[in-house]
Amino acid sequence: MSDSAATGEDRFPTGNPPHTRGSAFEGKTFYIKTFGCQMNVHDSERMAGLLTAEGGNPVSEPAAADIILVNTCTIRDKADQKALSDLGRIRQVRKEGPGTILAVTGCMAQREGEEIFRLVPDVDLILGPSQIRNLIPLLDAASTSRACVDGTLWPVPEMTTPPAIRPPGVTAFVTVQEGCDKACAYCVVPATRGAERSRPVTDIVREVENLVSSGFREITLLGQNVNGYGQKGDTAGASFPELLQRLSDIPGLLRLRFTTSHPMDMSEDLIDVMATSSRVMPHLHLPVQSGSDRMLERMQRGYSLDDYRRWIEKLRKKVPEAALTTDLIVGFCGETEEDFEKTLAAVEEFRFDGAFAFIYSPRPSTPAHSWEDVPPREMSVERLERLQKKVEQQAMERNQSLVGSRVEILTEKWDPETRTAVGRTPQFQTVRALVAPERPDPSPGDLLWVTITQGARAGLKGNAVSHA
Ligand code: 5AD
Ligand code: SF4
Repeated sequence: MSDSAATGEDRFPTGNPPHTRGSAFEGKTFYIKTFGCQMNVHDSERMAGLLTAEGGNPVSEPAAADIILVNTCTIRDKADQKALSDLGRIRQVRKEGPGTILAVTGCMAQREGEEIFRLVPDVDLILGPSQIRNLIPLLDAASTSRACVDGTLWPVPEMTTPPAIRPPGVTAFVTVQEGCDKACAYCVVPATRGAERSRPVTDIVREVENLVSSGFREITLLGQNVNGYGQKGDTAGASFPELLQRLSDIPGLLRLRFTTSHPMDMSEDLIDVMATSSRVMPHLHLPVQSGSDRMLERMQRGYSLDDYRRWIEKLRKKVPEAALTTDLIVGFCGETEEDFEKTLAAVEEFRFDGAFAFIYSPRPSTPAHSWEDVPPREMSVERLERLQKKVEQQAMERNQSLVGSRVEILTEKWDPETRTAVGRTPQFQTVRALVAPERPDPSPGDLLWVTITQGARAGLKGNAVSHA
């Protein structure tokens, strides 16, 4: 899952869903700051849901909050540093007094555990992602004595779903799978999110039906290995392609997306459902990480470049319009110039529609942490720049090649002043479309056909031509 949607998401809609009167949190204000990937964004929505159900009210400033939750990421060292610096700022402004709580949640909390008390002394509660469903009793206990609920409860057999509070809109995240059983040598996720497990299909169908009836039109299914859904003989009750098919049949749902897929969990059936269902969008985010087999092996990715290539060939044969995006790591242990050039060659070959590229960051509790042949930092910085330049150049070429074509966007925002609709193509590209004054105003949730007039690196511009 990409953490590049990384946000400083700190707002939740106000509103008055039913809640338990008489709760200790009745009337308390809460502030949530989110770092990291979409899964973390959604975890924050779940935590907001739990607090709102207890009568809590969201606020947009930590200084105004009785309860502060800093939902952290730990994928690279930089993520830890960002969270710690934010905690440093927040502790200066937090309210003092009985009943106020500063909690650290998320993946850094899971990995660091009690160490966080030493780094940020006035933290009251530390809890990892597996503990979200126990948020309320844990906050209750933390109001009298500080607590750290660390990783001792792994693996968590089941996955429950606290009701989430989402920002109003057209698109929503739904977690269907969590955790990772792969053993990529660089990755901290198995240590923070635990073993792979999947939510029951009936539970997911119910949640998506509810979302659609409250106006959401596009659902993104989330999982660390989303296409490993239901493969563990657990209680899912369906395979991932079957889940997509079930959800596609929900009336009123226009678009289904999913992220992140793992090459080892790819299947013909997944490609088939992308090819046959008009609801499943033609976009696959499939991290390749490196173009060098030697690196893939050291990374313990479990596939060769040729295996990856075969999946892409199948995808492009059956879903020719599919967009393909990826994640890439440079400067992994032992990476030579030759290995790196293979990554550049893979980018050239696969013509990714987008790629998130990162410099390898050694993480505690991962197999590669103790490996000593990490290339010098300056070398990795230089490789990252070369790689990003290539990715950007390809994105620019692709966007320019779309000028003159017609695409269908799902309107997410409409600005009547500038008569601009903003939405995404099925391939997940953002389009800003001008709607001529004689045309009807679109509303968020409407499908709109647009002729592309301009393609820049960051996105597309066009003119609306018809309204579905
Ligand atoms: N260093 C750098 N990048 C990493 N990623 C995961 N772990 C690390 C690490 N230790 C990248 C991978 C993954 C994405 C979410 O983050 O490319 O797909
Ligand atoms: Fe998401 Fe946690 Fe991974 Fe960060 S470390 S990208 S929050 S799963």
